[in-house]
Amino acid sequence: MVRYLSLVVVLMLTGYVEGLGVNWGTMATHKLPPDTVVQLLKDNGIQKVKLFDAEQSTMSALAGTSIEVMVAIPNDQLQVMANYAHAKEWVRRNVTRYNFNGGVNIKYVAVGNEPFLTSYNGSFLNVTLPALQNIQNALNEAGVGDNIKATVPLNADVYNSPDSNPVPSAGRFRTDISPLMTEIVQFLDKNKAPFTINIYPFLSLYGHDDFPFNFAFFDGDATPVVDTATGIQYTNVFDANFDTLVSSLKAAGFGDMPIVVGEVGWPTDGDKNANVGDAYRFYNGLLARLAANKGTPLRPGYIEVYLFGLIDEDAKSIAPGSFERHWGIFRYDGQPKFAFDVSGQGQNKFLIGAKNVQYLENKWCMFNPNAKDVSKLADNINYACTFSDCTALEYGSSCNNLDANGNASYAFNMYFQVQNQDELSCNFQGLATVTTQNISQGTCNFIVQIASSSTFSLRPSPLVAVVLVVLFSILLL
Ligand SMILES: *[C@@H]1O[C@H](CO)[C@@H](O)[C@H](O)[C@H]1NC(C)=O
Ligand SMILES: *[C@@H]1O[C@H](CO)[C@@H](O)[C@H](O)[C@H]1NC(C)=O
Ligand SMILES: *[C@@H]1O[C@H](CO)[C@@H](O)[C@H](O)[C@H]1NC(C)=O
Ligand SMILES: *[C@@H]1O[C@H](CO)[C@@H](O)[C@H](O)[C@H]1NC(C)=O
Ligand SMILES: *[C@@H]1O[C@H](CO)[C@@H](O)[C@H](O)[C@H]1NC(C)=O
Repeated sequence: MVRYLSLVVVLMLTGYVEGLGVNWGTMATHKLPPDTVVQLLKDNGIQKVKLFDAEQSTMSALAGTSIEVMVAIPNDQLQVMANYAHAKEWVRRNVTRYNFNGGVNIKYVAVGNEPFLTSYNGSFLNVTLPALQNIQNALNEAGVGDNIKATVPLNADVYNSPDSNPVPSAGRFRTDISPLMTEIVQFLDKNKAPFTINIYPFLSLYGHDDFPFNFAFFDGDATPVVDTATGIQYTNVFDANFDTLVSSLKAAGFGDMPIVVGEVGWPTDGDKNANVGDAYRFYNGLLARLAANKGTPLRPGYIEVYLFGLIDEDAKSIAPGSFERHWGIFRYDGQPKFAFDVSGQGQNKFLIGAKNVQYLENKWCMFNPNAKDVSKLADNINYACTFSDCTALEYGSSCNNLDANGNASYAFNMYFQVQNQDELSCNFQGLATVTTQNISQGTCNFIVQIASSSTFSLRPSPLVAVVLVVLFSILLL
């Protein structure tokens, strides 16, 4: 009791964001070891994590912690899950298997990831609801359905307000999927599962130069948009968007359905609005609101939120834009990028970086200034960038002001690092050479990659260890 009271006092004194979650994506050429990432979460008091699969090494690292986990079924497996036997098998292998004392604290199963994005051309419209039903029914049948809920992380374009009345209170599900959305919401409600939505103020700005810049942030500097029906003044697009969903749910008959924000965040490179300063401004405002449990005008109070994302992912598709590889609140190597006060007090504090990170040697690949024939330079840069991440060279990005030689060096180095500094990968038809000098310039960091966890797995995962112990115990009997 005394300990409980002192905990409360500490929390009141310092303030904190209740149950802050993060998305842990792993589309990177060089991944930090899962144990290192789990320690990173713990060191920073992050209590919830959302995954994009249920990969075994990740789950093993999370086993035995109290971190709440959302596991996920990728879109390309939704069709398979429309078959109940397969859904049951999936739940057995990826959920109930970890449901023991010292296992993984799974709270949710994400069925698909933004399956109704218009860019998918309706490919997942017919399979998502059956998959959701089968997974939740399988959870229920396995006896874990009271604690583990299936939900579908959706993109914010599943609802909108009419152009004739573009205010949050007029929000409705998109007409082409409205009956389907109603069925999904009915099913979620029946199982006391939340509606999960991804909201990206950054994307409201991206490619929309007429969008009022300050309306993307939370500091109230934007000219308010008044909802004429309710009289509510909106000063940021997050609130307006979230409340458009609240209105859509209400119109469908489920105005009180719990809502989880599955993804929200700001990238730091790859676009003119993607930089550390704007990311800091965005998160600073977001964390302050979350710490105060402010909620939105139509939903005051606590909101369960998962930031996107934890660590930069240099192998993510850049079809939506070059910023896709720069969403991390941590860099590729688990080091913080900008001040980020998890207490929501806006202090100039940094997150704690990943510990004991193993880097490759201090070696870089650069354009060889003595190269005779540069006629193949463009082809070689192109090759290097096809198989590595050159998004920092793009317009508005951190390496956009390099000269031509700098550009070549940057591309060659990124490729060299992806190839674990293999000497043969720093040739480029004689155009490149290895250096031990740090050739970073100004804002442009020429990185040294980390030693990838997949190439140096030094010890068995905890689950493997458990299995071995059990095996030995049986042998000894
Ligand atoms: C579910 O578990 C199986 C068996 O461990 C694994 O092969 C599969 O990749 C997992 N599914 C996901 C989506 O991670
Ligand atoms: C959707 O359709 C467009 C145009 O027909 C096509 O370019 C694109 O590849 C399609 N996308 C998917 C995911 O099928
Ligand atoms: C979904 O089902 C409808 C009706 O059965 C059918 O017309 C449509 O082609 C299906 N769409 C896909 C992408 O399979
Ligand atoms: C460097 O590369 C970027 C991106 O490819 C390009 O926009 C820029 O013009 C290049 N700079 C020079 C000096 O070639
Ligand atoms: C290289 O220099 C940059 C800029 O000074 C610095 O941020 C980075 O940490 C250095 N890299 C290494 C591996 O020392």
